[in-house]
Amino acid sequence: MWLATMAPGQLMDARRDPPHLEKRGNATQLFVDGNPYLVLGGELHNSSSSSVAYMDAVWPRLAAMHLNTVLTPVAWETIEPEEGKLDFSSVDGLLQGARANGLRVVILWFGAWKNTYSSYAPAWVKTNLERFPRVQTSDGRGTERLSPFSAAVRDADARAFSQLMRHLRETDNEKHTVIMVQVENEVGVIPESRDHSAAAEAAFQAQVPSALMSYLVNHRITLDVKLRAVLEAEGRTQGTWQEVFGKTPLTDDLFMAWQFATYIEHVTAAGKAEYTLPMFANAALIRPNYEPGQYNSGGPLPHSLDIWRAGAPSLDFFSPDLYFNEFATWSNSYKRPDNPLFIPETQGGVAGSANALYAFGQLRAIGFSPFGIDDVGNAPLDLVGITNSAERPDNAAIANLYAALSKLSPLILEKQAAGATAAALIEGEAQRSARLYIGDYIANITRAAGSAPSTRIGVVLIQTGANEFLLIGSGDAQITFVTDKPGPPIVGIESVDEEFFDGRKWTPRRRLNGDENSQGQSVRLYSTDLSQGRIYRVRLYRYR
Ligand code: DGJ
Repeated sequence: MWLATMAPGQLMDARRDPPHLEKRGNATQLFVDGNPYLVLGGELHNSSSSSVAYMDAVWPRLAAMHLNTVLTPVAWETIEPEEGKLDFSSVDGLLQGARANGLRVVILWFGAWKNTYSSYAPAWVKTNLERFPRVQTSDGRGTERLSPFSAAVRDADARAFSQLMRHLRETDNEKHTVIMVQVENEVGVIPESRDHSAAAEAAFQAQVPSALMSYLVNHRITLDVKLRAVLEAEGRTQGTWQEVFGKTPLTDDLFMAWQFATYIEHVTAAGKAEYTLPMFANAALIRPNYEPGQYNSGGPLPHSLDIWRAGAPSLDFFSPDLYFNEFATWSNSYKRPDNPLFIPETQGGVAGSANALYAFGQLRAIGFSPFGIDDVGNAPLDLVGITNSAERPDNAAIANLYAALSKLSPLILEKQAAGATAAALIEGEAQRSARLYIGDYIANITRAAGSAPSTRIGVVLIQTGANEFLLIGSGDAQITFVTDKPGPPIVGIESVDEEFFDGRKWTPRRRLNGDENSQGQSVRLYSTDLSQGRIYRVRLYRYR
């Protein structure tokens, strides 16, 4: 339940609840201190948070860019440099820095794996190959990757993680600075499609675990189409991995997915037993024509999400690290009834801004977070419109976007829940137009004449009345409206009002008519809109 609808006693209780996910109308949302929360985030470079002193200068810049949340690694080697001796001073320092600047934090647990490697495991783990075995290649060589088939690795990882979560419960369960946790980072194996250690070989020759088999049978209607196709091709409900899924490299990927999922389930459950925050796993995506082992084999990819769901019920969702241009396709493949969308890593810049509008408006995303957000120039960005774009255009564009969205977040969250937002993307040179459906209307969006054909355009409409919409855009575009609903067939533009953000609040400014809206025939968006703090309130009417 949401604060506005609560009695005072309930309200205090809700504020004390740890951050959690809640289904609210048409959306699953993150709740922080009793209120729905839109993550306007950014992820730090991998090594930034290894120094509290380094971060001292970074936090204020991120706050000035209107972020509300920073995604930051916490490394196993940092908190447990000696076995059993936990040192949380760096975590405490990071959280103090975040709090002092009004920022929340998503912790990225760099435990046994970071981008398939085990570079963040402590030295006492890395150097003890007997006790902590590695993923092996088919010709018997070791790799710098801990094996997910090792109970010793898993238990040591889970112990450290549960201590971290206990420390957060003891030090942060009132302030709620940490709002979510990512467990491990971009797991999977390369350069071969599966682990060939002795334990892995034995598991591969064994029967597919019955827990997985019955999950797949019970969920066959909603399974990912690629997964369902391989299952149906073999037609088996029990057998070895190759009998059930076929003799292809994809089977190796699904086998590793189950192993990573059940391993991470163990770590996640141990952490949640200490302190329950929303937890998720992230995936490195697949480049065109890459095979398992060329891409991270076993990561939480669209075709293996059902296996991850079955193996890791304690994880709340799975996220794409989405750097590719086909943003709509990839983001849609992670938006499922059992999986709200959160994008922990992605590109920033003007393209990222358009993508963010699409994610929030169309896919009701919980949050968006460009990578390398600490890459700002020397000057702080403290007001919309004041950008140091010559130094770092990417983050300047995100700063402008977040300036606009920070004050609109409550409205966006309310309308996500009501199903009253819709958005469209125009992605590449081949695409000239897009269309979105909202209420009684269809918006046709086309590139404005003269706009650079490679620029990405993102447009979100928020319905504020039967015939009234707020329009937020990134890119040069022209928008016209039609309807396919019963009633008068022609849609007219009653009015277009510009709303202006002065750095503190949105206020109505010019009434746009005549040349500005093609004599009432369309709405024009400009690529400078977000940097100049401009959105539009559009009223429509219908006639014969
Ligand atoms: C994806 C990883 O998850 C990040 O930690 C970082 O290494 C980026 N790639 C770099 O592009």
